[in-house]
Amino acid sequence: MISDWQKDTETLPPGKRLDDAIVSTADLQLRRPVATDGPAITALVARCAPLDRNSAYCNLLQCTHFADSCIVAERDGAIVGWVSGHRPPSDPQDFFVWQVAVAREGRSKRLASSMIKALLARPAQRGATHLITTVTDDNQASWALFHGLARDWDVPLERSPLFESSAHFAGAHATEYQARIGPFDHGKFQAEQG
Ligand SMILES: CC(C)(COP(=O)(O)OP(=O)(O)OC[C@H]1O[C@@H](n2cnc3c(N)ncnc32)[C@H](O)[C@@H]1OP(=O)(O)O)[C@@H](O)C(=O)NCCC(=O)NCCS
Repeated sequence: MISDWQKDTETLPPGKRLDDAIVSTADLQLRRPVATDGPAITALVARCAPLDRNSAYCNLLQCTHFADSCIVAERDGAIVGWVSGHRPPSDPQDFFVWQVAVAREGRSKRLASSMIKALLARPAQRGATHLITTVTDDNQASWALFHGLARDWDVPLERSPLFESSAHFAGAHATEYQARIGPFDHGKFQAEQG
């Protein structure tokens, strides 16, 4: 009998680099979040500077109302990766990536890219043609991640200021630049995920 857990577990895409003792395909599962993941996600985000900490309640809503557009990576019962996102109601052809968090010991193994690719391959993302996100100018890891996705998909990445430091954050936060990646073919993502 296939358990709900197994049904919700997503395959890792080919070309992964998840083969050492810290993160391996054998013991790493990518899956939709559930409400009981909330506290572990909140704790992971807190350990992943410079991410903003959202409320525990926000993470619970992401794990429930927005579970189709969020993903966790779990290893040995611990949440080691998290991507939150949604389809903006005003622009449903876009998939917005809100936060990407990978535990320090799991970094540089393509876990972030694998989670985003798995998310975009879901049937729930059918019709999405672009990934959008916002990144501060100094977050080199994040820019490398999104430029790498654009390169892998062979599509452009357009960058433009979205939320400006003084106008939108009253000077309390650096300007967030929007990265818009696409257009891409959702059917191709599904085929790649097998
Ligand atoms: C950003 C973050 C999610 C990347 O996770 P990751 O699993 O290590 O990323 P990946 O292994 O999938 O790497 C994707 C690409 O980014 C590059 N990259 C990753 N970390 C990097 C760093 N610190 N500096 C430069 N490049 C980096 C990788 O080399 C790879 O490039 P490639 O496609 O050319 O090979 C992780 O460092 C993190 O959680 N940081 C703290 C929180 C944060 O800043 N989140 C992003 C803002 S939403």
